[in-house]
Amino acid sequence: MECSRTPLVAGNWKMNGDLQLVDSFVNELKIDSGVDIVICPPACFIAKFENAQFSIGAQNASQFDKGAYTGEQSFDMLKSLGVTHVVLGHSERREQHGETNDVVALKTKACLDAGMTPILCIGESLETRQSGDLFAFLKGQIDAVLEACGTQAMPTLVIAYEPIWAIGTGVTASPEQAQEVHAFIRSELSQLDAEKASKTRILYGGSMNAKNASELLAQNDIDGGLIGGASLKIEDFTTICNAAG
Ligand code: PGA
Repeated sequence: MECSRTPLVAGNWKMNGDLQLVDSFVNELKIDSGVDIVICPPACFIAKFENAQFSIGAQNASQFDKGAYTGEQSFDMLKSLGVTHVVLGHSERREQHGETNDVVALKTKACLDAGMTPILCIGESLETRQSGDLFAFLKGQIDAVLEACGTQAMPTLVIAYEPIWAIGTGVTASPEQAQEVHAFIRSELSQLDAEKASKTRILYGGSMNAKNASELLAQNDIDGGLIGGASLKIEDFTTICNAAG
């Protein structure tokens, strides 16, 4: 890993956890320095993370500032609670809530405009990978965001490569498969601005756990992880964070 990129490990709790888990993370999560840690709990728990030793992320936010959008929250509202990072374009949002590349691009722009850090998720289905369209598909997901946000999105923008077939399945991409895609993503970013691309963090997500983390994190272009299931267990999450440091 290049020293210009501080590793980042983000825990995406999805719709899991309770106040007891919040308490244990706030009081017990201790990580050696040198790694940026973000926990993204369900939005209703965010305000309970006061005095946490790590950053707080949200799992989604609206592209709109305010108005008649029942059930939504704006970036500024989240920011007022101390949220610094927002996961955007997760495949579950794309699939279950119809978020298109264009919507994800608008959200990413709104996130950057609010002075927050987007964790932009991209990733293919098994069908797309097997059809041979993998790189064109990922390029489409990246281009939509960079066209809307410009190269000034880098290096704040964090990209999380999350192959859909690896999410929650227990099947991870091999370190070689992941590195191949991460190198592709960085080369796409480099075409716009090589220096900024070299400083932009690209995370891997999809069944990363305490056992497989160090091998994945040892790859040149893997700068951290976006962790689902294993972020709900403080010991496992700690092991992953320490492997990233
Ligand atoms: P997983 O989820 O680690 O449970 O596979 C990752 C994610 O969806 O961000």
